[in-house]
Amino acid sequence: MHMPKRHRLIFERDGIPLRKISHEHLDNRMIWKFLYLTNRHRFYMNTIETIKKRHSYRGKYKPDRIPRKDLTTIMEAGLVAPSGCNKQTTSLICVDDIDVLKQIRAVIDPPIAETAPAMICVLTQRIPAYRDKCFAVQDYSAAIENMLLAIVELGYQSCWYEGHITDDDRICDKIAGILNVPEEYELVCILPVGIAESEPVAPKKKAFDERAWFNSFKK
Ligand SMILES: Cc1cc2nc3c(=O)[nH]c(=O)nc-3n(C[C@H](O)[C@H](O)[C@H](O)COP(=O)(O)O)c2cc1C
Repeated sequence: MHMPKRHRLIFERDGIPLRKISHEHLDNRMIWKFLYLTNRHRFYMNTIETIKKRHSYRGKYKPDRIPRKDLTTIMEAGLVAPSGCNKQTTSLICVDDIDVLKQIRAVIDPPIAETAPAMICVLTQRIPAYRDKCFAVQDYSAAIENMLLAIVELGYQSCWYEGHITDDDRICDKIAGILNVPEEYELVCILPVGIAESEPVAPKKKAFDERAWFNSFKK
């Protein structure tokens, strides 16, 4: 039986088969259902689906530890993002050690993502990319969005926490101190990673034609 390529993806991840299944069974819809139910958190969505499914999650997380393999995949997604003149100004520190997480939580007031079992800290180097132009903000924003999408695709949830930690009380600098971040780097954002206890809520967005048009601006 001919299998379209996108269906074959479900059986393997990074070249490693998830389930061995004989081809004569592939027309059995029960198997597809079984595969979906047993690998639900690993089920490949297409990119557009993942983009639409992503929402900021600010609820509680389950205590399950996140495999390093998944955290690495998420960070790799961030590091392959485009960057102005390919300066690659974004660096990442993933914290999954309970003691370090505790130290970080102690400096976040008011608290956020207290139950997250892992947290990716986003660092930037504000260096010029072209003449006096610095694209560091664009660079780390692209990396963050890539990571948010990877997080959702792998079955986890997150939220882009930047405003909260870069305010006047500079929680970001306190976290950077805990993580031994050198002075030439700035910690700008944290992304909790974990399995959500509840469903993320989709915020209301303006209608498509209020913000996007073809061929000319329309009032
Ligand atoms: C630059 C930036 C900073 C943000 N900082 C915070 C923050 O400090 N705290 C927070 O709860 N959400 C923060 N968010 C998430 C936004 O509130 C969220 O993206 C927005 O409400 C739209 O919701 P959505 O992500 O579900 O589409 C930030 C998002 C961006 C892009």
